[in-house]
Amino acid sequence: MAALSKATILTDEIGAARLKNLTGFTRFYKIRPIEPQAHMFALKLWRQLPAPFRLSIINAVQQNKRLYRWLLFRHVDAKDRAAGLNINLPPAELRYRVSSTPDAENFITVGRICAADIQSALSKVGRDLGSFTRILDFGCGCGRTMVHLKDLASAAQIDGTDIDTSAIEWCRHHINFANFSLSNENPPIDYQSNTFDFIYAISVFTHLNEDYQFRWLDELRRIAKPDAILLLTVDSSLAGEDGFVFQRSYENGLFPAWYQNAFHSKEYVLTKFGSYFDVLGYFPRGMNAHQDVVVLQKRKIPVDSVNHA
Ligand SMILES: C[S@@+](CC[C@H](N)C(=O)[O-])C[C@H]1O[C@@H](n2cnc3c(N)ncnc32)[C@H](O)[C@@H]1O
Repeated sequence: MAALSKATILTDEIGAARLKNLTGFTRFYKIRPIEPQAHMFALKLWRQLPAPFRLSIINAVQQNKRLYRWLLFRHVDAKDRAAGLNINLPPAELRYRVSSTPDAENFITVGRICAADIQSALSKVGRDLGSFTRILDFGCGCGRTMVHLKDLASAAQIDGTDIDTSAIEWCRHHINFANFSLSNENPPIDYQSNTFDFIYAISVFTHLNEDYQFRWLDELRRIAKPDAILLLTVDSSLAGEDGFVFQRSYENGLFPAWYQNAFHSKEYVLTKFGSYFDVLGYFPRGMNAHQDVVVLQKRKIPVDSVNHA
């Protein structure tokens, strides 16, 4: 880890805080790396410009967020390539989609913590990751968590699925111990019923509206084996008294319009998620000391109809 340089932003003049709102679900862009030499040459030219002139260019570029993001990701990738970090790391743009930062060290560290936190939550309900034989990472993104579960692949078949075509393409080329499929905005998903004995979804239900959430709970129940364990994360920080809050917080065009931010209270999760599954445990801030973890189990006899009115 010591060898990892902090991924930096476009120039020192642009504060990291200003990146917050620039997150991109950039199916629109093709990821084309810039050669480190060309990158260094461009930076050298850039630094020779007078500071006020640079600032006015930066301000102008920031008005065009797509261009700004494009430059940012190319810059970070070029720096990573120069540092030899690019071999098994997804490009900055894909990292940014799951982490809200292109920072390589953050990506690696958070992935490792999430994998450990999955095991930790399972242990608290008396289960072990090593006991499962069919595992699904639902909403795997570019494999941030999954890569840290490689050792399980000797005894289990691991699958990952996501709606993000570039992330799944990257996973297929770089993660050779698992199978990957493209998911959809809405069910059905292309897996047989009663397939998985463990399904985890890190920070996926934190982005779905209530209607989509119920559809996916239903679908995950379908593809889970009887008695299967599910581990989902939720964000209770802004759930308030309503129990469920859906915030349209992303700038238009960045993510699909339906992909926003959802907040759940513990009581809401116990009741609503509990109508699909038995709740085995609820662990506040159990995922990366940030999101809450809920561990569920599919009942042997499925509940046919659930009324959420
Ligand atoms: C915040 S990211 C987290 C990614 C990954 N779980 C991780 O922790 O690195 C949320 C992910 O959920 C995926 N997602 C959202 N809706 C989905 C769906 N219907 N099917 C599969 N993946 C979905 C997004 O594309 C995105 O990759």
